[in-house]
Amino acid sequence: MDRLVIRGGVPLQGEVRISGSKNAVLPAMAAALLAPGESRVRNVPNLMDVRTMVRLLEHMGVVASIEGDVVRLDAGPAANPEAPYELVKTMRASFFVLGPLLARYKRARVSLPGGCAIGARPVNLHLVGLQAMGAEIDLMQGYVEARADKLHGATIAFDQVTVGGTENVLMAATLAAGTTVIENAAAEPEVEELARLLNRMGARVRGAGTRRIVIEGVGELSPFDHAVIPDRIEAGTFLAAAVATRGDVVLVGAALEHLEAVVRKFREMGAIVDPVASGLRVRAPQRLEAVDVSTAPYPGFPTDMQAQIMACLALARGRGLVTETIFENRYMHVFELVRLGADIAVDGRVAMVRGGEALDGAPVMATDLRASASLVVAGLAARGTTEVRRVYHIDRGYERIENKLLGLGARIERVHADGE
Ligand code: EPZ
Repeated sequence: MDRLVIRGGVPLQGEVRISGSKNAVLPAMAAALLAPGESRVRNVPNLMDVRTMVRLLEHMGVVASIEGDVVRLDAGPAANPEAPYELVKTMRASFFVLGPLLARYKRARVSLPGGCAIGARPVNLHLVGLQAMGAEIDLMQGYVEARADKLHGATIAFDQVTVGGTENVLMAATLAAGTTVIENAAAEPEVEELARLLNRMGARVRGAGTRRIVIEGVGELSPFDHAVIPDRIEAGTFLAAAVATRGDVVLVGAALEHLEAVVRKFREMGAIVDPVASGLRVRAPQRLEAVDVSTAPYPGFPTDMQAQIMACLALARGRGLVTETIFENRYMHVFELVRLGADIAVDGRVAMVRGGEALDGAPVMATDLRASASLVVAGLAARGTTEVRRVYHIDRGYERIENKLLGLGARIERVHADGE
């Protein structure tokens, strides 16, 4: 297993290009199942999760290829509509294929994802939504077995805002008979992006980006050619790294409109964030001020940035309270940040961070994607050497993170397991 070895304390300087959004690319790839012919997704980041999705689609008979940042996907008239446990367990986003398979191929067999490092993460809301549209669903030996001769429109009011549930139902509804209304829909930019892509395919979706999405079903869809939006969480992570190291970094291609809650919090901490022609420029004062942060569905502060801002709070003046409202177990990074000298106490969903003057390097263990990102942020700011182990978690969602950081002047190196 690879490790990242970071010699911290260097203020990051320069420009970093933000890649395409992982969480927009994965549903886009699933959407290719909805139409015959070759679809192209552009601006695709080079990530393990993208390769997993390609393998999953190939397993279903989709002809797939990755060339540079373009993924080509051709889903023929017949498919093997099955998502096996071996793939779904490594990537929950595999579950996105359920809605499109059901809509186009009338049946699907998709493994239940199971729990994961950040919480139970059930899929009940996805299933309730599809059942409301007429799907018959059985749970058999760890698999969701779903059938529907023809999905029909329905009004679906989610009890809780769910990004994946909204995306699954949204994709299924494009080919359903009649009108589907999703109430309490997720308004994340990735949902809006998916709706834009579906409309390009000939779907009729209105209201994406708000809490109420209306989809009028159509008879068929056409393949698409679509470049995805920049990754707001990758941008936020580099923003946090710039702030933690008191650097001066331009996030090239970052979209401020998708980062407002994040930028607001970092500005409250004293960071200077300015829109520039190529993206966003981030600078930070010598000492940050503590703030309280509570995660919330978009447009609130994203749970996917909670760990990274916590690393910054560990270096701020004063006490900050972090409240995680989306996932029940998303504090695995806390114990690792404590190993770097952070003073953090967790009580249920609230973490109290008492900021200190400095962190000190140590060996730490990555436990999930964003937890790992927070350890990299902390390691870049810490005195001495930090070794982040189990880097494969980071590779799921960050494209060439060490190369991008090297470009900003960080002293970071990937050590391959066989080099030990
Ligand atoms: C998406 O996951 C993202 N993943 C996550 O990013 C992100 O953290 C999350 O949305 C919240 O923003 C992708 O887009 C691929 P949810 P998703 O359904 O869709 C509960 C990252 O690091 N829930 O919005 O799985 C659930 O347990 C990842 O890039 C149900 O109870 O999240 C959670 O508490 C991690 N039943 C809450 O809703 C359901 O059927 C929100 O989950 C579905 C969800």
